[in-house]
Amino acid sequence: MSARRQISLGLSMRYLGYHAAAWRHPSADPAAASKYCHFLRIAQTAEAAKFDMVFLADGIGLRTKDEPPGALCRSHQTAELEPLTLLSALAPMTRHIGLVATASTTYNEPFHIARKWASLDHISGGRAGWNIVTSWSEAEAWNFNRDRHMDHETRYERAGEFVEVVKGLWDSWEADAMLHDKSSGLFFDQAKLHVLGHQGKHFKVRGPLTVKRTPQGRPVLVQAGASDQGLEIAARSAEVVYSAAHHLDAARAYYADLKSRLAKYGREPEHLKIMPGITLFIGRTEAEAREKFDLLNALVAPEIGLSYLYGQMGDLSGHDLDGPVPEPPNPLVKSMARNLLALARRDSLTIRELYTTIAAGFGGRVLVGTPEQIVDDMEEWVVAGAADGFNICPPVLPLGLDEFVELVIPELRRRGMFRTEYAGPTLRENLGVPMPPNRYTAT
Ligand SMILES: Cc1cc2nc3c(=O)[nH]c(=O)nc-3n(C[C@H](O)[C@H](O)[C@H](O)COP(=O)(O)O)c2cc1C
Repeated sequence: MSARRQISLGLSMRYLGYHAAAWRHPSADPAAASKYCHFLRIAQTAEAAKFDMVFLADGIGLRTKDEPPGALCRSHQTAELEPLTLLSALAPMTRHIGLVATASTTYNEPFHIARKWASLDHISGGRAGWNIVTSWSEAEAWNFNRDRHMDHETRYERAGEFVEVVKGLWDSWEADAMLHDKSSGLFFDQAKLHVLGHQGKHFKVRGPLTVKRTPQGRPVLVQAGASDQGLEIAARSAEVVYSAAHHLDAARAYYADLKSRLAKYGREPEHLKIMPGITLFIGRTEAEAREKFDLLNALVAPEIGLSYLYGQMGDLSGHDLDGPVPEPPNPLVKSMARNLLALARRDSLTIRELYTTIAAGFGGRVLVGTPEQIVDDMEEWVVAGAADGFNICPPVLPLGLDEFVELVIPELRRRGMFRTEYAGPTLRENLGVPMPPNRYTAT
């Protein structure tokens, strides 16, 4: 084994993959995102390849808008399964791979989240993770008794308190609280059960939790959000952060900023793994990779493509798609419209080319190349201090995962960058992050 640092790998498996036209790919079963067997096959493939975890992003409302008209009925980002239910069903069918689901602090109660994720940690033998998000769309507010989404400040204030309550509930039972002593009749040691008694601005939660301490002490905490408040929650509590950086310099700055925040919470930099998302088009030759990229991009219906620009630049459907990107007629988000326009001008992109660059990875970072080129890029980010691993977001599932396993994993292993065996049965052991002490026993 070389002295190179080993990386962590997560697999994002939402929908049919991270390309807007994934469902139209010749290999895709368009109905698969609602089929258990689709996810079982993916999770088992990822586990055989020794991925750290599978991950489900989530939203709790139909966020896709019919803008321009005709976009909604062409979108596969519309129908899916509820993540925690799905991961619970995958747990007994897998043995090592981490199971990470997203849940919103804006539209849940801490007791519910603490209880459900603690249960998944028991069911899976210590492989559960919670991706903490605050949600961002009005469509979600409408499903939870609200007309408008909560403002950013309030959402994050609530999120900060929410996470502390959940962690407090997970400490309710000390690890050795259960006695199960049939002769004395004592089921547990009452001195080792703790009532949280939380009373704060957003929550009043007595506790204790009705699930005992979990195999990982508590499930792995994951965070995705780039604001200052999001970074503080991550620095204080998260073991994994999914970042959305596109450029190495920005990714390095983000990495250094986030890692520098850990010390004030008594944490070491390696206690948190930063994993940027990447969507990969992999070919044995550059030409083959480019062919795969072009094939999918050609399947992006104009309505869908334009919908990716609509939120920032307004309606461009009256323009020639193969002509230059115009000054946005009605920019809804001015700064983002300016960025998109600057990108289009810099690379002389047409409207169609601009929207396919976004549609190719749902706005995330996209790499097109051979396994060597892709691993060169991954290694560059790790060596430069911009990433501890990557969240792989295949353009089409399961094909993109199969190609990654067949072509990229061997190259990672050849360079000593990825494991050949799991370190242990829990997600924490495989990520190499410590088990948290129970606040009532840590002195
Ligand atoms: C890489 C990444 C993944 C995210 N995944 C989700 C998700 O699955 N569900 C969700 O509701 N929000 C998701 N978000 C949104 C964040 O939770 C957050 O609401 C949003 O980024 C705004 O917060 P911020 O200002 O801290 O970035 C994600 C954000 C990033 C950067």
